[in-house]
This record gives sequence, structure tokens and C-alpha cells, in this order.
Amino acid sequence: MEKKLFGKPIITQESMRRRIKSLGIKIARDYQGKDLMMIGVLKGAFAFFSDLVRAVPIPLEVDFLVVSRQRDKRRKDGGTVKIISDIASEIKGRDVLIVEDIVDSGYTVTFLREEILKRNPNSLKFCTLLNKPERRKIQVEIDYICFEIPDRYVVGYGLDYKNKYRNLPYIAALDNITAE
Ligand code: IMP
Ligand code: MG
Repeated sequence: MEKKLFGKPIITQESMRRRIKSLGIKIARDYQGKDLMMIGVLKGAFAFFSDLVRAVPIPLEVDFLVVSRQRDKRRKDGGTVKIISDIASEIKGRDVLIVEDIVDSGYTVTFLREEILKRNPNSLKFCTLLNKPERRKIQVEIDYICFEIPDRYVVGYGLDYKNKYRNLPYIAALDNITAE
């Protein structure tokens, strides 16, 4: 029963726990003495974000924004990204770290970089749980990456397929689930 619902992990809870712990320490070192504002990109990053911020042992603030990407195959730029719900904080002069679930085409990160830079932060970096470099349509620089994965559609630990599977405690490939 459980196997049918959940599929096999391609990234286990234990390997995420270990990776996030060491990434949290690295972020804390890099931002020691700075005015760190971590921004989670919802919905996909909610699980990763809450584990990551608890692994960063320095003072920091959190905020969230919700984006949606309308895919439009007729447009070369891959459609439009919109902020559906914005952060509540002032970020001018602060050290902003945006936390994403997955970087795929790169359009979302590109859009967010332009948007956030308009608000004049002191610094801006990006962190993602998963990176799918094979799928890139536009070159982006990501400062912190937990895992590189091949070109497979994945769900779990915040990531969805048609808004389901976000509650899986680990990352599974969707074909592992549907095949069972
Ligand atoms: P990008 O603009 O193509 O880089 O889009 C990234 C967004 O697409 C992510 O934040 C996810 O919401 C979604 N996405 C891309 N690949 C996957 C996947 O394999 N599983 C679930 N969501 C994905
Ligand atoms: Mg996302």
C-alpha cells in the first residue's frame, strides 16, 4: 500500500538531512556578521526552506513569496513568471538569499533576480534543493545547490505534480510512482 502511494526515493530523507546540515553551516559562515534575509519561493520550497533555515546557526530573518510560471509553448521565452504574493519586508541594503525547490529552465530564477535587484539589496544569492542542468534554456548562476539530478520529473518534499505529492517525505521520480 505504502509503496504504491509513495514510490521509491531517488533522494532519501537521510541524504537530504546530511546535505542540508552541511549547507546550513556553509551559509552561516558566508553570512556571518551580515544582515541575512532568507526568502522562500512558495509553494515548492516550503519543506526545504523550513529545514534549511533551522540548519543555519546565525541570526536571520525569513520571508516568502509566491510565484507562478505560465508555460506558453508558442513563446520563445518560455512564458511569463509572475509574483502572485510578494514579500512583506523591505530588502534595500540587506543580504538576500532566495531559496528555490528546483531550477529547471532557469526562467523563474532569471525573473526573480531582475525583480529583487530593482529593490537594491546589498547582495543577492540563490540557493536550490535540486538542479536539473540538462533542462536549462537560459544560463543562470546558482550559488548553493544541494543536489544535481538528471532530466526526470520529480515530486515530494514540497515538489508537486498537479498539486499532489508535496507531502512525500523524500524525492521520488514521478515515473517511479505511476509505474507501480
Ligand atoms: P524554471 O523556471 O523552469 O526553472 O522552473 C522552475 C519551477 O518549475 C520550479 O520552481 C518548480 O515549481 C517547477 N518544476 C520544474 N521541474 C520540476 C519537477 O521535476 N518537479 C516538480 N516541479 C518542477
Ligand atoms: Mg518553484
